[in-house]
Amino acid sequence: MVRRSRTLGSKWQKTKILLRSKKLRAFVPETRIMNSGNLLTMLNKYGMVYVKPVHGTIGQGVIRVERTGSGTFVYKLGKMQRTFTTYTPMYQSLSKSKLNRVYLVQKGIHLLKYQKRIFDIRVMVQKNSHDKWEVTGYIGRVAHPKKIVTNFHNSGKPKPLEQLISAYLNPTSTQSFIKKLKTLGLRIAEQFQSYHPGFKEIGVDIGVDTKFKPWVIEVNTAPDPFIFNELKNKQMFRKALRLARNHGRFTK
Ligand SMILES: Nc1ncnc2c1ncn2[C@@H]1O[C@H](COP(=O)(O)OP(=O)(O)O)[C@@H](O)[C@H]1O
Ligand SMILES: [Mg+2]
Repeated sequence: MVRRSRTLGSKWQKTKILLRSKKLRAFVPETRIMNSGNLLTMLNKYGMVYVKPVHGTIGQGVIRVERTGSGTFVYKLGKMQRTFTTYTPMYQSLSKSKLNRVYLVQKGIHLLKYQKRIFDIRVMVQKNSHDKWEVTGYIGRVAHPKKIVTNFHNSGKPKPLEQLISAYLNPTSTQSFIKKLKTLGLRIAEQFQSYHPGFKEIGVDIGVDTKFKPWVIEVNTAPDPFIFNELKNKQMFRKALRLARNHGRFTK
């Protein structure tokens, strides 16, 4: 069946679309449906994982769970942190603080930091006036110091990406890194398009680990162009908003 819808809410469905591409699979952190067995397996495998609602947005309900070197279990939700010496009480407590929804558990990426705060990257990809996919913006999002999510609507601070990675890379390497992110964004757009021809815009949340490998944390199908208005340079914002309006968004 060909679907003409323009958006897709389920993070599980979107992950499956990415995994169908051999090239993209390598950029997707292992993701499973959340239950006690899967969470324990993933904690044993990765040490740190993210637990999040399948239909969540703006970082709501996102939990980071860790198995520490000393064997204790710690989870963080919002600004709250709880520690347990064994798994079962931790899982029970976690289940209570979850909203009554289906959750995913995903390998946690040890994100790069800016002034001791984690950050990730949003890459905006839109169909342009020639009906071609184009990267219209990219931006870094720095988390609040006490939070484990970077979302703008969850106390995150958007900043020029160049500024955030200048502590890690020289300007030439920065440019080639940004080029790689753009190529990744375009590939993801093509992959989504092949399953959902109605899609016109995507916003990819990309986490970069300490080895500088980009990971696709999430693909948004109704991405917010207004985050780019937080940059002094309005070039990306103007284009992203214009194309979003061309696609019928934000029109009165
Ligand atoms: N696997 C992960 N590793 C590291 N950080 C993550 C991971 N999953 C989510 N996050 C953090 O939480 C934020 C929100 O998660 P996301 O999957 O994008 O859901 P939402 O729809 O709420 O934005 C991300 O932007 C990122 O900062
Ligand atoms: Mg997101």
